[in-house]
Amino acid sequence: MSEAAKPESERRKFRAIKGTRDILPPDSALWNWFEKTARSVMESYNFGEIRTPIFEETELFARSIGAETDVVNKEMYSFEDRPFGLDPLKNLDDFNRYIHDLERMLTSGQIPGTAANRDNIGVLKTTKEKLDGAMKKPGATIASTSGQLIEFFYFVDSIRLGDSITLRPEATASVVRAYIEHRLDTRPGDQKLYYIGPMFRRERPQKGRYRQFYQIGAEVLGTSDAPAIDAELIEMLTVLLERCQIEKYTLLINSIGCANCRPQYVELLRAELRKPEIFERLGADSKRRVETNPLRVMDSKLPEEQEIIEKKLPKISEHLCADCKTHYEKLKKELKLREVPFTESPRLVRGLDYYMRTTFEITSPILGAQNALCGGGRYDGLVELLGGPKGIKGIGFALGEDRFIDAIQEAKKIRATRPVDVFIAWMGERAYPTAVRLARVLRNEKHIVELPPVEMKFRKALERADKAGARYVLIIGDDEIASKQLTIKHLADGKQEKISEDELIQYLQ
Ligand code: HAM
Repeated sequence: MSEAAKPESERRKFRAIKGTRDILPPDSALWNWFEKTARSVMESYNFGEIRTPIFEETELFARSIGAETDVVNKEMYSFEDRPFGLDPLKNLDDFNRYIHDLERMLTSGQIPGTAANRDNIGVLKTTKEKLDGAMKKPGATIASTSGQLIEFFYFVDSIRLGDSITLRPEATASVVRAYIEHRLDTRPGDQKLYYIGPMFRRERPQKGRYRQFYQIGAEVLGTSDAPAIDAELIEMLTVLLERCQIEKYTLLINSIGCANCRPQYVELLRAELRKPEIFERLGADSKRRVETNPLRVMDSKLPEEQEIIEKKLPKISEHLCADCKTHYEKLKKELKLREVPFTESPRLVRGLDYYMRTTFEITSPILGAQNALCGGGRYDGLVELLGGPKGIKGIGFALGEDRFIDAIQEAKKIRATRPVDVFIAWMGERAYPTAVRLARVLRNEKHIVELPPVEMKFRKALERADKAGARYVLIIGDDEIASKQLTIKHLADGKQEKISEDELIQYLQ
């Protein structure tokens, strides 16, 4: 039976994929308001918008964010980018065509010309011959040829058909890639860039945590690492919070040192964490991180580790080199100058590897478990790490739009939707052309107008107008056409008046 012929209860229904969601009106109006407000704040600080692709080479993220981080290790949506025009191998009879295509594409560079690919294509041909031999043996069955089949498909899979690409889990790496690719270092002054868009991470979904979420971020790239840049960026965020009338938040700041001082601190931390009386009290994740990334133990949320982190472990702020210490002290001075209140948090190490010196986060108690509204920090070595010019410094942040919207809704101060201004209740064929014309005139005057596409009984039209929250109902029927006088009804007090078309615009003002 075709799907359409089945009763509705049995028809296959599609739902948004776990961790993704639809943003519907009226919420979408608040999203638009927020994006407009964020753009206007960032542009007032002379940031310009950058739009980068949604997917990039996997290696770009692995190298920037760090291969040992949760984002790269567990959370990326990655897939192989197949060459255009290579039809998949659908059955064994198709093999000659497939191997011919592979060899042609290897020669023309359409699939990666790696030594492994060349070897594996050769081995694939041999395994096919072995498989054919096994299948031709008298009495051959699927069971008797399964070994050769497995080997054959193993080599089919082992050929890399294209680069691994990844849906961006964040945008700093992409911005830095674009900075290098377009030689933005040759433009005068610091490059101040902002972006708005979806990011993708395969995290366990919960309130405030999605697999497709939206970030608004900003990055400053240039030769200076003046703490005033860090402070201005943070100040800009607090201005945005103010515009959104979010009052309950905490700005946490820290310095995580540089390539000179951090390695020594990390070793000290590791030595402390390895002590049996501490190690035994750690959870499984932290135990693993003692070797892979001990710094991350500092931001563990596990209740039983909190006392150890607070009381037993060395704090990075006490192990900064002189330059990092000076930079951090100046940052605090700059924040005070701008009257931006902050809390120092020696535990704020952030989950991405590219950070150095300044790190910061803004958390809000109204958000629940996923309480980070935004996070950021300095990443002075990243441009060089990604093959760019030496000596380019960077700092930036990204805020979680989903969480900002929750916080705005929770604070209940912003109303982003505007109700319908005029609902046109038209009755009769003679009234319709006037209704269509006046709808356009009013819309040109920026009024929100609802024009029913088919005629409605007067009572029904009033009910609809009321439900839509309309301020006015413009009534146009045979009488109005004959007398050239429109009827306008103010829904809040039920007052009704007769006006001419010429008076309409003025009346609504
Ligand atoms: P991040 O801390 O990974 O930093 O993410 C920034 C913000 O994005 C978080 O504070 C949170 O509000 C939001 N966010 C992250 N993951 C999710 C999720 N699964 N669902 C909802 N919201 C989420 C970065 O991404 C860095 N690129 C920030 C940066 C820019 N550092 C320097 N420049």
